[in-house]
Amino acid sequence: MSNLKKVLLEKVSCKSIWFMRQAGRYLPEFQKIRTENPDFIKLCLNSELSSEITLQPIKRFNLDSAIIFSDILMVPYALGQNVFFNKNEGPELSDHQLDSFMNVSEKNFSDKLSPVYKAIEITRKKLNKEKSLISFIGAPWTLLVYILKMKKNKNEINIKVLEDSNLKLEEIIHKLISCLCLHIKNQINAGSDVIQIFDSWAGLIPNERINKLCYLPNAKIVDFCRENKIPTICFPKGIGEKFKEFNEIVRPDGINLDQHIDPLWAKSNLKNVVIQGGLSPDIFFKSDKEMISEATKYIETFKGLPYVFNLGHGLLPETDPDKVKRLVNFYRSY
Ligand code: CP3
Repeated sequence: MSNLKKVLLEKVSCKSIWFMRQAGRYLPEFQKIRTENPDFIKLCLNSELSSEITLQPIKRFNLDSAIIFSDILMVPYALGQNVFFNKNEGPELSDHQLDSFMNVSEKNFSDKLSPVYKAIEITRKKLNKEKSLISFIGAPWTLLVYILKMKKNKNEINIKVLEDSNLKLEEIIHKLISCLCLHIKNQINAGSDVIQIFDSWAGLIPNERINKLCYLPNAKIVDFCRENKIPTICFPKGIGEKFKEFNEIVRPDGINLDQHIDPLWAKSNLKNVVIQGGLSPDIFFKSDKEMISEATKYIETFKGLPYVFNLGHGLLPETDPDKVKRLVNFYRSY
């Protein structure tokens, strides 16, 4: 069993380290491939290159887990929306066609994403058995933000979109959940052994809607995974003290802290769950001394507990890979 799967399922305390967005723009070896492949979706569908990118941070830092190089927006893509990634801007999706979206068959959906599954197969063969291969999905709410084009800017959404009387919100969420469970199953069958569920925009949901838009959809997906013995890590980013309620309702195997959660608060309030992450990705822009002191705070707080070392959000494109290397070395020798 891989290191991460063991920590999540057996709740044992052992060293385990990986970083969100570890395969990405801060690595010159990624930038090289990216420059040669201007179409990001096409790159995600190139199984050989996607596998190569997945392994880049493992080769550089010898991390315990690889996360497959793909994107949460591959699901709206497989449901028929065009997805564009403009340089230095957020992703842009074409208008959704809800009728065809609701009618995409399981076969059609899986066929469109088959290169992702192929990439997982290739990667699993190349990875040492102790290393985990993580697959991921975007939670229904976070996908809806993109599908319905609700984003106004980095911190604001246009929630009024949901009030459109023609919008069959419950049916859409239901369809998303079934496609996401299928995507999870396909990825596990291809060789992944842990699933991370990103609810990156959970913090933008108004209080009175959090149950319906965040807790319940996450819970349904985690239930599906539990029934199929698939370990899950949830990341309801930005919901503050509602992390406690989220954890009690959704009951994932692991929960990823964001950098705004006090690790001591998490330790006393998040029970029966493996804690992961929390460290701000900004620490890579501080001195080595400050970086190590921040990291030590997390390591010491969760000493003796099954804690997975990671960040509170993804690595930023401006991060110096040598700095990451020094943090990994520090963690390994601690
Ligand atoms: O290394 C890894 O973590 C695996 C690959 C991965 C990517 N996206 C590759 C990527 C993962 C896990 C994701 C998840 C993802 N994608 C999330 C959830 C996590 C989070 O960051 O909140 C979200 C919201 C997306 C949607 C998305 N994809 C955005 C907003 C962007 C553009 C801005 C950005 O953050 O990079 C992307 C593009 C994207 N996905 C890139 C990469 C490496 C950059 C593409 C480029 O080279 O321009």
